[in-house]
Amino acid sequence: MNIGIIVYSNTGNTLSVAKKLQEKLEAKGHTVNLEQITITGEASPGKKDFQFTAAPSPDPYDAVIFGSPVQAFSLSVVMKEYLEQLPSLEGKKAAFLLTKHLPFYWTGANRAIRQMQGASEAKKAEILGFGVVIWSGSRRERTTQSALEALSGLF
Ligand SMILES: Cc1cc2nc3c(=O)[nH]c(=O)nc-3n(C[C@H](O)[C@H](O)[C@H](O)COP(=O)(O)O)c2cc1C
Repeated sequence: MNIGIIVYSNTGNTLSVAKKLQEKLEAKGHTVNLEQITITGEASPGKKDFQFTAAPSPDPYDAVIFGSPVQAFSLSVVMKEYLEQLPSLEGKKAAFLLTKHLPFYWTGANRAIRQMQGASEAKKAEILGFGVVIWSGSRRERTTQSALEALSGLF
């Protein structure tokens, strides 16, 4: 399958997991392109003073994995805006990768997943699933492995 991994990563955590996911999917025989969403300006929780310098198109792909950090108990505002400006995803499969610092899904993961699902469903994508990495302490390695397994297992 031709898969795009489209990632917004502020400090590099989500990007590093996305690179591992790319390797894992390629090892399964898929064609995988990793692309980054980039911005200029300021995008912090509650502040949307930014513009996209790169907003990769999902058009070339059969399936897209969108990757983002959780920020302020929500999906990062950059990924939220990116998903909203997308054209139709009809006929495409979608999956989600989230990284976050705090343990427990209720500290932002649940809400961010709902936001990603809602935005992708609104564009008529077929939602396959998601993976969440908890970046803090001993959870990082374990949750990275389980997110990689979960996401690569979808394809
Ligand atoms: C402004 C800001 C808000 C954040 N809010 C949360 C949060 O609500 N819950 C959480 O678990 N982590 C939160 N984090 C931590 C990030 O989600 C975490 O460090 C993530 O792995 C960063 O990914 P990135 O390096 O790809 O940007 C926040 C980080 C920043 C900078």
